[in-house]
Amino acid sequence: MSDEHHESPIKTPGQLIAVAVASFLLPIAAIVLVVQYVQNSNRIGAGTDAFSTEQVNQRLAPVAQLTVHDSSAPHVFKSGEDVFKAVCTTCHTAGAAGAPKFGDSTDWAPRIAQGYDTLLKNALAGKGAMPPRGGTSPDDYSDYEIGRAIVYMANHAGAQFPEPQAPAPGAPAAAAAAAPDAGAAGATGASGAQADAASAAAAALAALPASSAAPAAGANSADAAQAGKALYTSVCATCHSVGLLGAPKFGDAAAWAPRLKDPIDTIYNYALHGKGQMPAKGGSTASDEDVKAAVDYMVNAAKNGSS
Ligand code: HEC
Ligand code: HEC
Repeated sequence: MSDEHHESPIKTPGQLIAVAVASFLLPIAAIVLVVQYVQNSNRIGAGTDAFSTEQVNQRLAPVAQLTVHDSSAPHVFKSGEDVFKAVCTTCHTAGAAGAPKFGDSTDWAPRIAQGYDTLLKNALAGKGAMPPRGGTSPDDYSDYEIGRAIVYMANHAGAQFPEPQAPAPGAPAAAAAAAPDAGAAGATGASGAQADAASAAAAALAALPASSAAPAAGANSADAAQAGKALYTSVCATCHSVGLLGAPKFGDAAAWAPRLKDPIDTIYNYALHGKGQMPAKGGSTASDEDVKAAVDYMVNAAKNGSS
């Protein structure tokens, strides 16, 4: 007859207060969550549907980066151990092809004695059966990461090298090295655009498939221009794409101008026999013809860069 007989779960004043408070707070919490959700959706691609292209791309990004190499993506540096396990272990764990064996201090002692800088230089440029950068491209592993792998290996064989310096965030390792380079050339200073163009060219070259570079070492019969480009990509780019160790940068007319005053035979000779920090043949075992072709390739790029 009346509601009084109805069994209510609320038996005490305390419970009544709790229910009253909850019936206010729950809808408010729900509204806050909905508002936040809507604001989040709008933050990217304002005025579009909840799943804008940007959002979809954002969600896909981590997956896409695994398959499509995006060199502009923020780079998370690999540890020395990671690089070692991914690359260097192929030869250095078993001592294949005469590689100093991981953890073998007898193998490593004479190498460590050369000092870290020499080891890094040799690992970047290649030495004997050791391919430049262990056969990787600068896009895969930066100089810094190769350096970390060296420190990892050397320190497991008795060295006490400190961790290499991380490159400035955002800037490719090249940026710092390139600045003094432009100054040394005595030019009015390579403009930012020029430097960008050079590094873009270098990036494009570095992105070439490694297979196109492989024949460079042996095949002299191949078209000289092709061989020059291939050797450049597989060996010389290590230093010349970024101006490492003060190398004149690829495509940088200002950096090359003072050198191009020499007769081409002199320039060939420097490349063949070394000059300052520039190792003979860039540290490779390429034929004289291929080294000259690589010089031609670099010289042409420098001349075209001046247009
Ligand atoms: C394809 C086999 C191979 C791979 C891969 C390889 N190395 Fe080597 N590495 C060698 C060989 C062979 C030597 C000995 C070269 C010599 O002294 O003639 C060597 C020597 C070295 C040396 C000593 C250089 C010196 O000046 O004595 C360093 C440092 C080095 N490797 C670092 C690395 C790093 C770092 C990686 C990985 C990023 C790597 N290597 C990957 C084969 C390899
Ligand atoms: C390990 C780093 C490194 C590698 C690898 C390297 N270079 Fe160099 N290169 C340099 C440096 C540093 C200089 C500047 C030397 C100087 O003027 O003291 C240079 C200078 C040169 C010059 C200019 C010489 C002159 O003053 O006229 C030529 C040409 C050249 N390199 C060609 C090559 C070729 C070709 C290759 C590949 C086969 C190569 N380099 C690989 C570091 C390198």
